[in-house]
Amino acid sequence: MTQDELKALVGRAALDYVVPGTVVGVGTGSTVNHFIDALAGIKQQVLGAVSSSVKSTERLLAHGIRVFEAAEVERLPVYIDGADEIDPRGHMIKGGGAALTREKIVADLCDRFVCIADASKQVPVLGNYPLPVEVIPMAAAQVARRFAANYRAEATLREGVVTDNGNQILDVRGLRITDPLAMETELNQWPGIVTVGIFARHRARVCLLGTEQGVRTLTFD
Ligand code: A5P
Repeated sequence: MTQDELKALVGRAALDYVVPGTVVGVGTGSTVNHFIDALAGIKQQVLGAVSSSVKSTERLLAHGIRVFEAAEVERLPVYIDGADEIDPRGHMIKGGGAALTREKIVADLCDRFVCIADASKQVPVLGNYPLPVEVIPMAAAQVARRFAANYRAEATLREGVVTDNGNQILDVRGLRITDPLAMETELNQWPGIVTVGIFARHRARVCLLGTEQGVRTLTFD
């Protein structure tokens, strides 16, 4: 199977986690696009969705799925989203599609984060994938220098990308994230960082992994 076929497989499998009669949290990316397309087939069963990006909102609306503002809901039973890397405890790197800030906001509303990913995203330790960090433009150079000084890591500006929130993305190479919760907590203190793409505090509870043998379901305590 191609990587896209594996993504489609888990996108469809995620329908099993949608709670009928509720609003579903919807992430961003090529894997989630498959989930949105599958969700269209059962749209009568849900009230609608809270979306984590303009792109996902457009796709949901094109399918006739109602999109709620995050402010309109207090809790979401489930949030379905992809990942760039996932470790054995459900910690993730996210933000390859630059949607990390809204993704973390929607993840914070949910009771259960269900990650959908092809098997290439499973890693023993996070950090091989460049860590996305959303920054206030004024602070980009300052934050990049601090990554070099504190972690000997190279942060480069993602050229031509402006997030849905009007900010910039730094991609940080050279990190080995053995304690994701500690690093997320530390980076959250740096002035100018809006959101760091480490999802440790908001880790996955379930991961549906697309493999050649079919969907492998991983659960994390
Ligand atoms: C979006 O900003 C990301 O967090 C995506 O969830 C992540 O990059 C996974 O994307 P794909 O499903 O396209 O691989």
